[in-house]
Amino acid sequence: MPTIIDGKKISQDIKDELREQVRLLKEQGKKVSLAVILVGEDPASCVYVRNKKKACEYIGIESLSYELPETTTEEELLTLIQELNGKNDVNGILVQLPLPKHMDEDKIIKAIDPAKDVDGFHPQSVGALSIGLPGFVSCTPAGIIQLLKRSNIPMEGKNCVIIGRSNIVGKPMALLMLRENATVTVTHSRTKDLSSVTREADILIVAMGKRKFVTADYVKDGAVVIDVGMHRDENNKLCGDVDYDDVAPKCSAITPVPGGVGPMTIAMLMYNCVASANMTNE
Ligand code: GUN
Repeated sequence: MPTIIDGKKISQDIKDELREQVRLLKEQGKKVSLAVILVGEDPASCVYVRNKKKACEYIGIESLSYELPETTTEEELLTLIQELNGKNDVNGILVQLPLPKHMDEDKIIKAIDPAKDVDGFHPQSVGALSIGLPGFVSCTPAGIIQLLKRSNIPMEGKNCVIIGRSNIVGKPMALLMLRENATVTVTHSRTKDLSSVTREADILIVAMGKRKFVTADYVKDGAVVIDVGMHRDENNKLCGDVDYDDVAPKCSAITPVPGGVGPMTIAMLMYNCVASANMTNE
């Protein structure tokens, strides 16, 4: 049977390490603070934001909450971001996505000071990652690297296949895997004969957004499978993009859903906030 990669435990370890770092920073008179902006009342976003604030509280990060009505104008949101950019005691700014349709997400993300871009979505952060300069890294792919490292799974020289090319997961994942010296292939909805490509993977990372799409036929014997998906199955149980019961017996290691990649995203957001505080002299 495969090793089940325990994202709940690994994310807890990271949060405990950060809690200690924040305690030490406080001893030096420095505090860490994150501004969390939510526009509207999208139910999933409300849950994410609540969980982010809870994680802040656990670690000792001050969270400044801005819950704005759906009717907020782009101008008003930009003004708030500019105000937060100028506050030396705010280390991170997080604008929960998706934004209401009347707002231009790219314009909003670009307004965030890259030094406070703890989501790693600003074009400057993405550009820095692509050429190996320091900068914030998108939290889900950064969390996947931590899952692999902390499970002692080597990446150097391995064939890594990624399904999905989103700006938030697939693309930054490919760049991070290159940084770890893996040989990387990015596949997507137009890829021909997908399973023949994925069967070459030593490490298969699935972020395609299709419930239980990846079956045993897509996986090489002994592969490591990382599932970024999050869905409800026919019995309303949480499941991923990978058909876990079918795939798990073939793997050397696999992430479950829930309890795999999911908890890592918030842990890495907290990591970015603490890193941001460490980079300022406030
Ligand atoms: N919406 C879904 N995932 C994310 C995320 O990682 N960050 C932000 N800001 N919004 C999201």
